Amino acid sequence: MSEKWLEARVIGNRHWTDALFSLRVEAPPLRFEAGQFVRIALDTRKGDAGSRVARPFSFVNPPDDPVLEFYGIVVPEGPLSPRLAGLKEGDSLYVATNPAGFLVLSELPDARSLWLVSTGTGIAPFLSMLRTGGPWERFEHVVLVQAVRYARELAYRELIDEIGRNRQSLKYITFVSRETHPASLAGRIPAALRDGRLERAAGLEISQSSHLMLCGNPDMLKDATAALAERGLRKHRRRNPGHISVESFW
Ligand SMILES: Cc1cc2nc3c(=O)[nH]c(=O)nc-3n(C[C@H](O)[C@H](O)[C@H](O)COP(=O)(O)OP(=O)(O)OC[C@H]3O[C@@H](n4cnc5c(N)ncnc54)[C@H](O)[C@@H]3O)c2cc1C
Ligand SMILES: NC(=O)c1ccc[n+]([C@@H]2O[C@H](COP(=O)([O-])OP(=O)(O)OC[C@H]3O[C@@H](n4cnc5c(N)ncnc54)[C@H](OP(=O)(O)O)[C@@H]3O)[C@@H](O)[C@H]2O)c1
Repeated sequence: MSEKWLEARVIGNRHWTDALFSLRVEAPPLRFEAGQFVRIALDTRKGDAGSRVARPFSFVNPPDDPVLEFYGIVVPEGPLSPRLAGLKEGDSLYVATNPAGFLVLSELPDARSLWLVSTGTGIAPFLSMLRTGGPWERFEHVVLVQAVRYARELAYRELIDEIGRNRQSLKYITFVSRETHPASLAGRIPAALRDGRLERAAGLEISQSSHLMLCGNPDMLKDATAALAERGLRKHRRRNPGHISVESFW
């Protein structure tokens, strides 16, 4: 079946760094659950749907916000991301009609603490979730982990601080891997899971009553899942409930 598309209009494109951008888009209403993604697209030749280049992007906005927001990074040789980064107010793009994805709270078993663990733009689906009531109704503790190469890539700080002011059970931990940044942990998430630094920073133990959602770099998902498996935590499946849910961005 061919994909159905909605025409949408850019109302803002914030550049956090040369490579990181947040597109705000006006589109006809779309139904989705926080944590899901949708394919967005541009035509290579104007007006030629056959030349359409589409990629999945996670919603940053919560479902009840009529303005769609997508957080992206420029992959210099990539066919779509450099063009998305160059979009200006008033430009048009296409948004598919069928949001999808299983990195959502409704798929999770009961747990006491929720760990939302991201690298790079993988924080996007968690920002959407954190702006809904779900995490706060279901979990005693919520930890957001944002891992980036450089401190200037710690985007959405103001939004995260605002959520934290309203939701005191939120703990926010950052990693900066390629420069020294005293307010952040150094190195990578899997190492900090193994040596206990992540839990010490959060003041919270990871146990059988934790659920971890991992999103972003596929190598982080693999390495973090392995580190958690060493402690008896396993991937969550509908038929075999576990503690780890993942979404790989490539
Ligand atoms: C379910 C899902 C949700 C996604 N949500 C987002 C999102 O919210 N924001 C976002 O920026 N991307 C997201 N992506 C990735 C996105 O779809 C594109 O792959 C990305 O924008 C690059 O597109 P491209 O056409 O320029 O290059 P592509 O040909 O798609 O990718 C080329 C290479 O770039 C690298 N790459 C791709 N995406 C990223 C990334 N996000 N961060 C670092 N390196 C990357 C990988 O090495 C990949 O092989 C998601 C992917 C999936 C599968
Ligand atoms: N970030 C930039 O400055 C920049 C600028 C322009 C374009 N880009 C493009 O963007 C892409 C990279 O994007 P990104 O920096 O958001 O993503 P990334 O390479 O996934 O890095 C984000 C964070 O994930 C960490 N990480 C990588 N592999 C890991 C693993 N196996 N386990 C745990 N953590 C891991 C990185 O640590 P390490 O630092 O240790 O790898 C870094 O802290 C590249 O395609 C690049 O061309 C990036």
